[in-house]
Amino acid sequence: MMISFAPMEGVTTATFRRVYKEHFTGVDRYYTPFLAATQTGCFKKRETREYTPFDPLLVPQVMAAKAEHVIWAARLLADAGYEEVNLNLGCPAATVVTKKKGSGMLADPDLLDRFLDGIFREQDLPKLSVKTRIGFADPGEAERLGEIYGKYPISEVIIHPRVREDFYNRPLSLQGFEAMKKHLPCPVAFNGDIRTVEDAGKILTAYPDTEHLMIGRGLLADPLLAEKIKAGEGQKAEEERKAEGAAEDKNRIRDFVTDLWDAYSEILSGERDVLFKMKEIWFHLGSSFPDCEKQLDKLKKCRTAADYRGITETMFRQSQGGVLYSCHV
Ligand SMILES: Cc1cc2nc3c(=O)[nH]c(=O)nc-3n(C[C@H](O)[C@H](O)[C@H](O)COP(=O)(O)O)c2cc1C
Repeated sequence: MMISFAPMEGVTTATFRRVYKEHFTGVDRYYTPFLAATQTGCFKKRETREYTPFDPLLVPQVMAAKAEHVIWAARLLADAGYEEVNLNLGCPAATVVTKKKGSGMLADPDLLDRFLDGIFREQDLPKLSVKTRIGFADPGEAERLGEIYGKYPISEVIIHPRVREDFYNRPLSLQGFEAMKKHLPCPVAFNGDIRTVEDAGKILTAYPDTEHLMIGRGLLADPLLAEKIKAGEGQKAEEERKAEGAAEDKNRIRDFVTDLWDAYSEILSGERDVLFKMKEIWFHLGSSFPDCEKQLDKLKKCRTAADYRGITETMFRQSQGGVLYSCHV
């Protein structure tokens, strides 16, 4: 079973992925946050840095409104060494949706059909996978969308079982997941709300043919989650780990965030930008430190590197460690 780190714009950057890999195992594949393919025929410099130099564990993700934009992007990425390119059909942001990109395309199934038809008519493209929601406004749309995806030689469909209107926090629709999945001849990956070893176990039990779990916020909240899932840890193993390995795990997370700070300091222009990036990480990671509520509040408001260091050091010192085993994103 494969675990991938979900693409997260502004969070799972090339820098983040490099530092994460240096500290943790268990994640087999990474995706770039979406690269915007437009009529320009090339990616912006910032986006190019996301997929160069070539990384064999990486799948570049592209978002586009037109088939011809996907085609140039896929060719360019194939030339850079990538055998697979992922299409973003899930982004719920209003600025994206109004241009009928991301999940915006799901609101118009005929447009989606023409879009895919235009792409798959083209010969010699790398493998194309899709990351999608189950609809725009209603999980009932999953059937029709599944039928459309099922017509094309898509290499894999990664399903996030929410509709666009759900954004990221409403309950998942497993019914919608099943309704889409049954139309798909290709492998199907599950993405959404996997935060514990038990969550992963439930999905693998419900859908035993699942060979790929994609995890985003769960891995940010508990960077060791993929290792734990791979180790097949159940509740009992977690209990033992709480007693034995908590301090060590905490140290690993501290080393990770320290190195991440340093890595961002090297490429960003000032302390404020680095702080902004790290606060975004802590927004998720903080849920593994529920006994540090006050410090987390201070962290949100802090304005200097010195304050940041003081606050995070206090958290690593104070936190009981055991909390690292149940994240509540
Ligand atoms: C801040 C943020 C940025 C995201 N950026 C992307 C993106 O660039 N491409 C994409 O396909 N999904 C993106 N997503 C969605 C995630 O990849 C994932 O589908 C979602 O978080 C649900 O999975 P999770 O519950 O494991 O986090 C983003 C989500 C968040 C919260």
